[in-house]
Amino acid sequence: MLLLLLWLLSPSPVLSLNQEGLYLQGVKLGLDDPGGVLSNWNDRDDTPCNWTGITCDSLTRSVNSVDLSNANLAGPFPTLLCRLHNLSFLSLYNNSINSSLPVELSTCQNLLHLNLAQNLLTGLLPSFLSDIPNLRHLDLSGNNYSGDIPASFGLFRHLEELSLLENLLDGILPSFLGNVSTLRQLNLSYNPFSPSQIPPQLGNLTSLEVLWLTGCNLVGQIPDTLGRLKRLTDLDLADNRLDGPIPKSITELSSVVQIELYNNSLSGELPAGMSNLTALRRFDASMNDLGGTIPAELCGLPLESLNLYENRFEGNIPVSIAWSPNLYELKLFKNQLKGDLPENLGRNSPLMWIDVSENQLSGELPDHLCEKGVLEELLLIENSFSGKIPESLGKCSSLTRVRLKKNQLSGEIPAEFWGLPHVYLFELVENSFSGRISKMISGASNLSVLLISGNQFTGSIPDEIGLLKKLVEFSGSNNQLAGPLPATLLNLTQLGTLDLHNNKLSGELPTGLRSWKNLNELNLADNELSGEIPEEIGSLPVLNYLDLSGNHFSGKVPFELQNLKLNLFNLSYNRLSGDLPPMYAKEIYKSSFLGNPGLCGDLVGLCPTRSEAKSQGFVWLLRSIFILAALVFVVGVVWFYLKYRNFKKAKRGIDKSKWVLTSFHKLGFSEYEILDCLDEDNVIGSGASGKVYKAVLSNGEAVAVKKLWGRSRKEDDSGDSEKGQIPDDGFEAEVETLGKIRHKNIVRLWCCCTARDCKLLVYEYMLNGSLGDLLHSKYAYTLRVNEKSDIYSFGVVILELVTGRLPIDPEFGEKDLVKWVCTTLDQQGVDQVLDLKLDSCFKEEISRVLNIGLQCTSPLPINRPSMRRVVKMLQEVGAESKPKATTKDGKLSPYYYEDTSDHGSVV
Ligand SMILES: *[C@@H]1O[C@H](CO)[C@@H](O)[C@H](O)[C@H]1NC(C)=O
Ligand SMILES: *[C@@H]1O[C@H](CO)[C@@H](O)[C@H](O)[C@H]1NC(C)=O
Ligand SMILES: *[C@@H]1O[C@H](CO)[C@@H](O)[C@H](O)[C@H]1NC(C)=O
Ligand SMILES: *[C@@H]1O[C@H](CO)[C@@H](O)[C@H](O)[C@H]1NC(C)=O
Ligand SMILES: *[C@@H]1O[C@H](CO)[C@@H](O)[C@H](O)[C@H]1NC(C)=O
Ligand SMILES: *[C@@H]1O[C@H](CO)[C@@H](O)[C@H](O)[C@H]1NC(C)=O
Ligand SMILES: *[C@@H]1O[C@H](CO)[C@@H](O)[C@H](O)[C@H]1NC(C)=O
Ligand SMILES: *[C@@H]1O[C@H](CO)[C@@H](O)[C@H](O)[C@H]1NC(C)=O
Repeated sequence: MLLLLLWLLSPSPVLSLNQEGLYLQGVKLGLDDPGGVLSNWNDRDDTPCNWTGITCDSLTRSVNSVDLSNANLAGPFPTLLCRLHNLSFLSLYNNSINSSLPVELSTCQNLLHLNLAQNLLTGLLPSFLSDIPNLRHLDLSGNNYSGDIPASFGLFRHLEELSLLENLLDGILPSFLGNVSTLRQLNLSYNPFSPSQIPPQLGNLTSLEVLWLTGCNLVGQIPDTLGRLKRLTDLDLADNRLDGPIPKSITELSSVVQIELYNNSLSGELPAGMSNLTALRRFDASMNDLGGTIPAELCGLPLESLNLYENRFEGNIPVSIAWSPNLYELKLFKNQLKGDLPENLGRNSPLMWIDVSENQLSGELPDHLCEKGVLEELLLIENSFSGKIPESLGKCSSLTRVRLKKNQLSGEIPAEFWGLPHVYLFELVENSFSGRISKMISGASNLSVLLISGNQFTGSIPDEIGLLKKLVEFSGSNNQLAGPLPATLLNLTQLGTLDLHNNKLSGELPTGLRSWKNLNELNLADNELSGEIPEEIGSLPVLNYLDLSGNHFSGKVPFELQNLKLNLFNLSYNRLSGDLPPMYAKEIYKSSFLGNPGLCGDLVGLCPTRSEAKSQGFVWLLRSIFILAALVFVVGVVWFYLKYRNFKKAKRGIDKSKWVLTSFHKLGFSEYEILDCLDEDNVIGSGASGKVYKAVLSNGEAVAVKKLWGRSRKEDDSGDSEKGQIPDDGFEAEVETLGKIRHKNIVRLWCCCTARDCKLLVYEYMLNGSLGDLLHSKYAYTLRVNEKSDIYSFGVVILELVTGRLPIDPEFGEKDLVKWVCTTLDQQGVDQVLDLKLDSCFKEEISRVLNIGLQCTSPLPINRPSMRRVVKMLQEVGAESKPKATTKDGKLSPYYYEDTSDHGSVV
C-alpha cells in the first residue's frame, strides 16, 4: 500500500520537464550539434536551468539568457527560442546558423541583447528587427548580408550598439542612422558600400563613444559635424578614400582616445588645437597626402602611438616628443623629415617600435633609445645618420629587429650588440662600419637574417657563427673579411643564403657541405679561396645559385655538379683544369668557365689549341689581341664620328621626315618633339631590347620613350634603305593591340614611331617606375598595408607560379591574371590554366595550390584566408605529396618545381 502510494506520488521523469525546457528540447532537435555541446540538455531534469548555455532567473526559474557562442552548431535560426518569454540575452556568436532570420524573431519581445555575429546568414538585413521594442545590442557582424541597410534601422528606440562589420552590404551608408540617438557604438567597418559620403547627420549621435567606419568606401570630406561627438573615444575612418583637410572641429573631440585616419587621401596640415585632445593616446594619419610640420603641441598629449608615415611632413621631429611619457610606437617613415632624432628620445617613454626610415634625418643615434628596456624594433633605413652605434644599445636585450641599412654610420659595433638574444633580423648593410664580427655573436640565438654587406668589416668570421642554429641568411659581401670559411658554418642546417662575395676569404672550403640541406644560394665570388671544389656541392638538394668565380680554386670541375639545377652557375676566373663534365661542355655554359687557362673539353674558345701553345705563343696571342683592339678602337672612333655627324644632322630635322607615326590616342605632341628629347641625359633605364628615356614635352607633360633597335640594322648598313623600313609585321600587330587597350592598371601606349633603324614606343610616364623595380631594386621593405591586400598579392604570385603567366598579359585583353584564371577555369577547365611545364603527375597538388591562389585573390577581402591559414593549406598540400616531392629530411622542398625544358639553364 505504502509502495503504491510512493509510486503514485513520484513524478514520471519524462513528464517532469517544464514548458521552457520542452521548447529548448525543440531547439536542440532543430540544430546539428557535431560537438555534442547540447548533450547535457537532458529531458529528465525538471528545469533547463542547469543546461549548458542556459541561465535562469534565480527566483522564478524562468530562462533569461541563452549563450551558445562558439558551439559549432549548424542549421536555421531556432524560432522556438522566442517562446521563452523572459529571454533577454541571446548569443549564437560563431556558429553555422544559415539561410535567413525568420520574422518570428520579432516576437522575442524582451530581448535586449542579440548577437548572431560570425554565422552564415545571407540575404537582406531583416527589417523587422526594429520591432523588438527594447533591443539595446545588435551584432550581425561577419555574415553575408548584402544590399542596403533597411530604413527601419533608423527607428530603433533604445539601440546602443549596432555592429554590421564584415558583411557584403553594398548600398550607400544611410543618413537615417543619425536618428538613432541612443547609439553608443556604431560599427560598419569592412563592407563594400557603394561610394558614400560620411552623413553629416552622424554628428547628431551625441552619445556615441565608438565610430568605426574602416574600409567602407567613403569618399568626400570628413564632415565638421563630427566635432559634436563629445563622448567619442574611438574614431576610425581608416582605409577609405576621404579627401580634403582634417576638419578643425576634430580638435573638439574632448574625450577621444584613438583617431585612425590612415590610408585615405587627406591633404593639408594637421589642424591647430590638437593640444585640446587631452585624452588622445593613439593617432594614426599615415598614408595620406598630409604635409607641413609635425606640430609640437601633439607631443604634449599622453600619446602612446604616433603614426604619420607615408606623408609629406617636413622639418624636424619635435624635440618635445621625447617627453611623451607613454609613447611606445613612433612610425614616421617615408616623409621628408630632417635634422636629428631628439636627443632624449626614449629617456622618458617606454619606446617599443621606432621606424623613421626613408627620411633625411642625420646626426648621431641618441643614447637613450632603449633606456626603458622595451625597445623591440629600431628601423632607420635610408637616412643620413652618422657616428657610432651607442654602447647602450648593446644592452638592449629586448630588440628583435634592427635595420640600419643605407646610412653613414661608422666605427666598430659594440661587441654586445652582435649578440642580442631576441634579434632575428640584424641589418647593417651599406654603412661604413669597421672592425671585426665579435665572438659575442654566439649570444644571438634567435638570429635568422644577418645582413652586413657593404661595410668595411675586417678579420675572420668567428667560429661562434656556427652556433646560430636559426640562421637562414648570411650576407656579408663587399667587406674585407679574411681567413678561412669557418667549418662551423656547416652546423647551420637552416641556412638558405650564404653570400660573402668580394671579401678576402682564403683557404679551402670545409668538408661536409652535405649538411647544407636548405642552401639555395652560395656566392663566394671574388675572394682568395683555393683548393679543390668539393664534389659534395653536387649533392646540395636545393642549391640553384652557385658563384665561386674570381678565386684560386684548382683541380677538376666535379662531375657531381651535373646533379644541380642552377639558375646561376659561375666558376670563371679560377685555376680549374681537366675535362668539363659532359653536361657543361656546351657552348651556353662557356661564360661559366671563362678565365680558367687549364680547362679543356669540347668547348670552343676555352682551351688553347692542341698544338704547343706555350708561353711564346701566348705572348704572340696577347700581342695580336692588342693590335686587334687598337684597330677596333680606331675604326670605332671613326665610325662614331661619322655617326655623330649624321645624328647632328638628324637632330636638325633633315631626317625627321623618315619617321612614321602611329598613334593610339589623341596626342598633344608631335614625333619631332619626342626626337628632340632623346638625349643620353634623359636615359632612365636600359635593357636588352633598347633604352628608355624620359621626355618632358613643351606642355610640361612627361612621357616614357622606349627606343628599340630594329633587327634590320645590318641590312640597313648594307645600303638597302627601303627594305630596312619597318620590317616586322608581328611587332606592329602587337603594338597595335597594346595601343588599343584601355585599362586603368595598364600603362598607356600613346604612340609608336618607326624609322629606318629604330622604333620608338611612347608610353605614359610612371613616376615611381615599375612594380618590378620596386620589388627587386629595394632587399622588400614591408609597410603597414592591410593584411588582406598582402594576401591578395600573395595569391597573384601563386597564380603566376601555377599558370606560368604574367599578372598582366595582352592576351587577357581587359582582364588581369586573376580574372583570366577564373573565367578560363569556368569555361575550359583546369588543364587550360596550368603551366604546361609543370610535371603532370603533380596535377592534383598543383590544382590545390591553384585553388589556394584563388581563395587569396577573392574579390572581397573578408573572404581571403589569413596568412596563417594559407601556410597551413600549403603545408597540407605539401604533406600529402610527401612521397613524391620531398627533400631528404622530409620537408617539402620549395624547389620541387621541375623545369623540364632546360635543365640547369645559365643566367
Ligand atoms: C547542476 O549540475 C551539477 C553538475 O553538473 C550538479 O552538481 C547540480 O546538482 C545540478 N543542479 C541542479 C539544480 O540540477
Ligand atoms: C569559433 O568556434 C570554434 C569552435 O566551434 C573555435 O574553435 C574558434 O576559435 C571560434 N572562433 C572565434 C573567432 O571565436
Ligand atoms: C543549413 O545547415 C544545415 C545543417 O548543416 C544543412 O542541413 C542545410 O542544408 C543548410 N541550409 C542551407 C540553406 O545552407
Ligand atoms: C516571465 O514571463 C512570465 C510570462 O510569460 C511572467 O509571468 C513572469 O513574471 C516573467 N518572469 C520574470 C522574472 O520576468
Ligand atoms: C558568403 O559570400 C562569399 C563570397 O561571396 C561566398 O563565397 C560564400 O559562399 C558565402 N557564404 C554563404 C554562407 O552564403
Ligand atoms: C541632424 O543633423 C542634421 C545635419 O547635421 C541637421 O540638419 C538636423 O537638424 C539634425 N537633426 C536633429 C534631430 O538634431
Ligand atoms: C582649446 O580649448 C580651449 C578651452 O576649451 C578653447 O578655448 C580653445 O579655443 C581651444 N583651442 C582650439 C585651437 O580649438
Ligand atoms: C659544429 O661544427 C664543429 C666543427 O665543424 C663540430 O666539431 C661540432 O661537432 C658541430 N656541432 C654541432 C652541434 O653539430
